[in-house]
Amino acid sequence: MKKKIGITEVVLRDGNQSLLSTRLKIEDILPIAKNLDEVGYYSIESWGGAVFDSCVRYLNEDPWERLDLLKKAMPKTKQQMLLRGQNLLGYKHYSDEIVSKFIEKSAFHGIDIFRIFDALNVLRNIEHSIKEVKKYGKHAQGTIAFTISPIHSLENWIDLSKKIEDMDSDSLCIKDMSGILSPEFAFELISKLKEEISIPIHLHTHATTGMSNLTNIRAIDAGVDNIDTSISSMSMGYGHSATETIIYLLKEKKIETGIDLESLLEISSYFKKIRENYTEFEGSMKGVDLQMLINQVPGGMLSNLETQLKELQKEHLLNDVIKEIYQVRKDLGYVPLVTPASQIIGAQALSNIVNEARYETLSLEIIDLALGYYGKLPGEIDEGLLSKACENKERIFNRPANELKESFNEYKGNLKEFCKKIDIKDLSSIDEQVLTFILIPYGSEKIFKKMCS
Ligand code: CO
Repeated sequence: MKKKIGITEVVLRDGNQSLLSTRLKIEDILPIAKNLDEVGYYSIESWGGAVFDSCVRYLNEDPWERLDLLKKAMPKTKQQMLLRGQNLLGYKHYSDEIVSKFIEKSAFHGIDIFRIFDALNVLRNIEHSIKEVKKYGKHAQGTIAFTISPIHSLENWIDLSKKIEDMDSDSLCIKDMSGILSPEFAFELISKLKEEISIPIHLHTHATTGMSNLTNIRAIDAGVDNIDTSISSMSMGYGHSATETIIYLLKEKKIETGIDLESLLEISSYFKKIRENYTEFEGSMKGVDLQMLINQVPGGMLSNLETQLKELQKEHLLNDVIKEIYQVRKDLGYVPLVTPASQIIGAQALSNIVNEARYETLSLEIIDLALGYYGKLPGEIDEGLLSKACENKERIFNRPANELKESFNEYKGNLKEFCKKIDIKDLSSIDEQVLTFILIPYGSEKIFKKMCS
């Protein structure tokens, strides 16, 4: 049995994202950063996912500056980010040149470990990112986005993982964003992977369905190398297993984590206090949510849909929309419900139900998803949906980014124009700000103005 397990603390990114809609301000993080840095975590997930977006749109923070501050405040601990492969931190594909630039700058500002996934598990959508991360001597963690469907089998996951190892990834992550990986399947999958691959295996699971502690422990029994947890006062619900619980359980099993339970007390009480300031951003879910296991819809997606239906005064249609999500996902070859596919499928299901006609109006994104602009779908696409989508544009089989002609310089020019338009000094000579503009073109005005004031 393995004697040492690494712990990745996710409170600053995924804990924050799953429980507080990613609204944690940097001034509420910095006072506890030194404590976090002293714990002895394998890494701290602190950036990426929705953090960048939230900084720019809601918190009026420069996300690059946040990264500098985090790095400075936690010099001993590896900083980790979640990257959506060729989608970077956005919802569409970007050209290789832009992906390269983004990774160069993220590495420069202090990211040590890049967890890289693609919503469709299309490996050529993460290939370029992995290569670039390695170029800067950083850790590239290739990731599988876990889902359950009639076409996803244990053999598929093993096959995908082997290919990720062959792509020169430094480690593998099994990313269970909805908490649907059961303890026994985790045990089986990781036991098998341990025979088939030699790079370290990390597990990321959520507490949503109530299985996470068991799943983490069974994964450890099977030999997993690293798991993700969140400090107790920012754990469970849509979030993750509590760091302290896991440390306690592992101690009993005589498995070393290098973490002293006592060192977590102050961190936990700090976040308990801070969390009170963010109640307006908390979701309504209490306890455990089985929707994802029963209806295959992640809880986070459900709360969004509830809000949207309420705005349309059509709350009574929620169950129909849930059923429709299952249908749309099936029609698209059982795409994993993870960003950006989850948003695209949720919106289409809502439109199908509200308009009382399936696929009468197709969103631009669903057309792109159907026609290969996000990559090859895991299974077969529904013929009717395919022919409807084909009325709009051509189907592609190429790697999506190969179709993109956009260059970094072109965006530089656009930012120059934009600065002139909103009457601020020219920011286009700063590559980081060009990247912010590329990722959040419409939302970046406020932050640019703040920078120049
Ligand atoms: Co997650």
